[in-house]
Amino acid sequence: MYIGLDFGTTNSSVALYDGTTLTLLPLDPRSTANPRVLRSTLFITSEGAAYIGREAIDRFLEGNVGREIDYQWRFVGEAELTFADIGTVMQALYATVDANAPGRLFQSIKTALRDRGFTHTNVFGRYYTLEELIALVLSLVKMRVEDTLQTKVTGVVLGRPVHYATDAEADALAFKRMQHACKLAELPDILFLEEPTAAALAYARNVRTAQRVLVFDFGGGTLDVTIMQLDDAGRPTFLATDGVPVGGDVLDRRIVMGRLLRQFGEGATIGPRQLPFPAHVLEHLTEWQSIVDLTQPRYLDIIEEGVMAGSKPRELRALRSLARRNYGLPMYEEVERAKVRLSDANETTISMHMDEIDFDEPLPRWDFERLIGPDARQIERCVDRVLAAARLSPADIDVVLRTGGSSRVPRFVRMLANKFGEEKLQEMDVFTGVASGLAIAAWERGRQSWGG
Ligand SMILES: Nc1ncnc2c1ncn2[C@@H]1O[C@H](COP(=O)(O)OP(=O)(O)OP(=O)(O)O)[C@@H](O)[C@H]1O
Ligand SMILES: [Mg+2]
Repeated sequence: MYIGLDFGTTNSSVALYDGTTLTLLPLDPRSTANPRVLRSTLFITSEGAAYIGREAIDRFLEGNVGREIDYQWRFVGEAELTFADIGTVMQALYATVDANAPGRLFQSIKTALRDRGFTHTNVFGRYYTLEELIALVLSLVKMRVEDTLQTKVTGVVLGRPVHYATDAEADALAFKRMQHACKLAELPDILFLEEPTAAALAYARNVRTAQRVLVFDFGGGTLDVTIMQLDDAGRPTFLATDGVPVGGDVLDRRIVMGRLLRQFGEGATIGPRQLPFPAHVLEHLTEWQSIVDLTQPRYLDIIEEGVMAGSKPRELRALRSLARRNYGLPMYEEVERAKVRLSDANETTISMHMDEIDFDEPLPRWDFERLIGPDARQIERCVDRVLAAARLSPADIDVVLRTGGSSRVPRFVRMLANKFGEEKLQEMDVFTGVASGLAIAAWERGRQSWGG
């Protein structure tokens, strides 16, 4: 069986095509929103068991959130040190470790592909390379597909962003790592296809008139834009494609850093000399995963001092709770939900009431749009670049297809409407359009391999 697999930064889907019918597989029975959309998450327990999707998040939330993190100095090994005058000595190594953590959660691991610094990570004493982490997710997905279909997967067409990273070297490295992960996961007969190309193939299935289409695929980790020409049988010719490594994750971060820091002690001063509370402490809020770093004694000491002698004790108690009780993920999830609400409403409120965190922060849409202004401009430039590369003007485009969850953000809908005209805009299945196109390509490939 040949399948189309969209391994997205936030969500993954698998689709099948048999020449007439497209089927999206129920990958995540636990998802209440849509079982055919699996969150691209991985949870590894201290015993080494792995879980994906909603179950991964639930297990992390159950075991980690609200629990006081108990950092302990532990002996972690020995190192051989050589000194010129003394010779070689053995040095015991100690590190602070979270003594009671039941497991680690990984999210947006696709984004780590472009991060040269992320080579491996230590999960309860076992080293996992990034490729191994991704392979774990892929092989669990494959197992689920085979269980559901009661047949072996014999070929996979896998989506890839047009660019994993802006610079060519990081981009090539990311792709190599992804290929390696697929090999480790033992995915058979793999073909990579660019994600916007796949979305275009899904659209082309129902096209019977020649037209020029621009695909705007804006997901959790990347924005991809493609222009193609369809003939009157829906056969595509690709004219130009480009992308930027900006996605919904970045938009969430803009909200946290631009709007929520004030709830966690931004601008506080400490002591009678009114020394500023160090800004670098709050830099750890740029990702939920890095918030836990603040439980290291050197940061906790600063925060405690702020709680005792600072001008914003309430906010700094909230920061202490956020770090020590692991509310980083719930905060980012709340922010993401607020962002999604702003796609329909003009104003929303980000609310957190847990332990010593207690606030309702209003977020009007205009302010969200201000916060993402630089990203919006970068994205518009990308659209203009693709048009220029295809030597076309907006008037030459007949249809603009929006796909990917972030393509619902009104700021981007407006940008596209202004450029191309509102009547040309069409929304595709935002979470599953890419998987559908990959399935169509997989079916073609399967036919070729059967000699059909
Ligand atoms: N209604 C909405 N308005 C705004 N953003 C949304 C909406 N629904 C989902 N999102 C955002 O869309 C993103 C997920 O979209 P999608 O599933 O298309 O991404 P992905 O395919 O996993 O990522 P990528 O293609 O970049 O690897 C998340 O950042 C999510 O917050
Ligand atoms: Mg996607």
